[in-house]
Amino acid sequence: RINPLALTLPRSAPLVSDKLYSGFVEHLGRGIYGGIVDDPKKPSPDTILEKQDKGDDRTKGRLAWRKDVVKILAKDGELEMPILRWPGGNFVSNYHWQDGIGPISDRPKRVELAWLSTETNHFGTDEFIDYCRELKVEPYFCINMGTGTYEEALAWLEYCNGTGDTHWANLRRKNTGRDEPHNVKYWGLGNEMHGPWQVGFLNATDYTKMAKRWAHGMKLVDPSIKLVSCGNQGNSEWDREVLNGLIGVVDFHSIHLYSMLGHEHYSTVQGFDYEKNVFGPAAAERGIEICASLIDLAKIDKAQSLLDWNNRDQKVAARDIKICYDEWNVWDEVKAPGSQGLEQAYDYTDMLGVVAWLNVLVRKSKDVGIACIAQSVNVISPLMTSSEGLLFQTTYWPLRLFSRYMKNGRLLNLGFTPDSYEGPTYPEWIQHITKPAYIDCVGMIIQEPGSNHVSIRLSVLNRHPTADWNGAIVFDGLNLESVEEHVLYHDDLAAKNTFEKPDEVVPKVSKYQGRDWLSQGSRPVRKHSWTFLIFG
Ligand code: AHR
Repeated sequence: RINPLALTLPRSAPLVSDKLYSGFVEHLGRGIYGGIVDDPKKPSPDTILEKQDKGDDRTKGRLAWRKDVVKILAKDGELEMPILRWPGGNFVSNYHWQDGIGPISDRPKRVELAWLSTETNHFGTDEFIDYCRELKVEPYFCINMGTGTYEEALAWLEYCNGTGDTHWANLRRKNTGRDEPHNVKYWGLGNEMHGPWQVGFLNATDYTKMAKRWAHGMKLVDPSIKLVSCGNQGNSEWDREVLNGLIGVVDFHSIHLYSMLGHEHYSTVQGFDYEKNVFGPAAAERGIEICASLIDLAKIDKAQSLLDWNNRDQKVAARDIKICYDEWNVWDEVKAPGSQGLEQAYDYTDMLGVVAWLNVLVRKSKDVGIACIAQSVNVISPLMTSSEGLLFQTTYWPLRLFSRYMKNGRLLNLGFTPDSYEGPTYPEWIQHITKPAYIDCVGMIIQEPGSNHVSIRLSVLNRHPTADWNGAIVFDGLNLESVEEHVLYHDDLAAKNTFEKPDEVVPKVSKYQGRDWLSQGSRPVRKHSWTFLIFG
């Protein structure tokens, strides 16, 4: 029921940030080379046309972007991406940024330890910034706290943002031929530093000490930057200790989680792939809630320690920290292993899982300031490239609808209590502490700037594998002019889009006059389906 209260009180409700639809590209498989940068051996159809027209970018010593990917990711493109995170991921923990600047032909090839490959360094800092400018997105860098040094991190920041007559800023000017700085605002303090898979992983105490020292220097080089501490899944001892140590120092705390099927070695529960997929994001929801409480606890401790006479010289109060969910997605490590560049062919069930993820991120808007889908092209991505063009995987469609329509409005409080699922999950702990709803809804209200016209957006996910649901949406006191309905449904839970059959799973779009739509009363939401509604 959407009543006048929901329409008159929205200012007290959390704002749904457009930054929830940010992206991430890592030097891994065909993420950068083949996804962002066109593969010279298998060029995209656009590049072939462009070459005939204007000649090859490579002959001018520049890399050629895949133009079709640019059109999708750009801020003014299909996905309206606001922020792009780079260069890793695990890759960053053995990445030395100075290898990736200057003339491309002089750059060293290096052994890459995260994914055991060879890095040519053809795509580096200046190329990434050029790419962000082309996309009109905000760059978000993650620094190497594995094999990197403090000095290297400070130099990278000065290279990017320095405006004085200093060595690194001048080197940037020389390499780019421009005076203007790269102005990189977001800086992540390491990637997954808690994990034994991370080159140079640390324990929480050592990480916190190191991150605090590095953050201090980085803020001296450029006080305007936003720093992101490296968290775990939000609900761990690591998160608690890091938050306690870095409150007042960082602006965001990062969380990473992938909902997985937990095959053999990960899970004692076999089967239930559908349920593990569609209810898995419940782990993220609890993780965010716990992390938000850890942030509050750290703030309380900080406030109390400032009152303590012995700490009278500590002047830094706890600042407001938001969660930066900078890696999230559905990922099946068995179908998409590192040895195959993490290329996953997403099916219809994975699409429902991604909707559940997006519903969680929007519902938790109060606490989540930024979220980056991992990743943006080819690597566990909704978007795949080939010499034939682009493929929109099943998971592309929810991301597109959310990123275009579910932002810059106020979260609606949808008061209803649906039935919940109580069976096996992955991770298994979900079933012990939370009961995910079969009908998972999220909604937002937006008032067009300078007008009284309001629009409501609703995402309605029926996760029940066999039962349809009859939902009546009641609008009290809202004059509905138009309704646009996007429905994703397929009988086959394993249906996929392929280059041969690209439109197997695509939304069916219907438009109605408001009064016609309302006169239909309650409407069935089919078993295992997703409906996205735009009310105007
Ligand atoms: O996105 C793939 C990998 O998953 C990233 O490199 C790493 O940060 C995470 O474990």
